[in-house]
Amino acid sequence: MANNNVVIRVQGLAKELPMGKVTVHALRGVDMEIYANEMVSIVGPSGSGKSTLLGLIGGLDTPTKGKIEIDGVDITRMNEDQLTEIRNEKIGFIFQFFNLIPTLTALENVALPIQFARKPQFKPEKRAKELLTLLGLGDRLRHRPSELSGGQQQRVAIARALANNPPLLLADEPTGNLDSEAGKIVLDALKQIQKESGTTVVIVTHDPDLAEFTDRTITLVDGEIHKDGLKKQIFEA
Ligand SMILES: Nc1ncnc2c1ncn2[C@@H]1O[C@H](COP(=O)(O)OP(=O)(O)OP(=O)(O)O)[C@@H](O)[C@H]1O
Ligand SMILES: [Mg+2]
Repeated sequence: MANNNVVIRVQGLAKELPMGKVTVHALRGVDMEIYANEMVSIVGPSGSGKSTLLGLIGGLDTPTKGKIEIDGVDITRMNEDQLTEIRNEKIGFIFQFFNLIPTLTALENVALPIQFARKPQFKPEKRAKELLTLLGLGDRLRHRPSELSGGQQQRVAIARALANNPPLLLADEPTGNLDSEAGKIVLDALKQIQKESGTTVVIVTHDPDLAEFTDRTITLVDGEIHKDGLKKQIFEA
């Protein structure tokens, strides 16, 4: 998406949360840059600020201090309507807790965001079927969430996040509810999407296999970046 390759630029990002008399410092000044077509994992102990960071990047929350640019535009200065537009047009979000619509089938859940897109790029049913098949759910298209296992529901939520082919995909524990076989299907699917569509992918995870699978791993400890390691040379020129 960005020509100069930086898709996400985070500067001096801090998030403080008041908790009664104390203040929780969820993030204490985070700086990072994520480039177009990178697949980055964010790891670190429970409570280290991973979900907070992802939520801020996705415009779901506002920081106490600092700046977040998506494609060169500072989203921390945007109002709710502008943020909603950025989220709809640029960002696919896979939440730690998937919110599928219980009365709709898997196929309908995935097709829905395409039907609501301002300029749909795909035929809703066809795209939904392709994505669900890619995620190993080709035989569960007509099932409702209550008729699916937790891991299958999670994969439907992943397909839904991918529905409009967002240039930026943010995922909080996308393999959290999956066994190793289903986890592998999800990873392969994310890799394929990243390659075919040039998607930038940021994944929060506890899963060392998943982190190993990404191009770069950023480790957060106590609200700060502890380590930022590029594993593979991913830029061609
Ligand atoms: N709404 C809130 N109010 C107060 N404190 C919060 C709130 N949300 C998160 N925190 C605190 O902020 C810190 C960072 O939380 P965060 O959810 O980002 O951690 P995490 O790294 O995603 O952890 P996990 O791996 O367990 O999901 C934690 O100490 C948490 O207790
Ligand atoms: Mg979390």
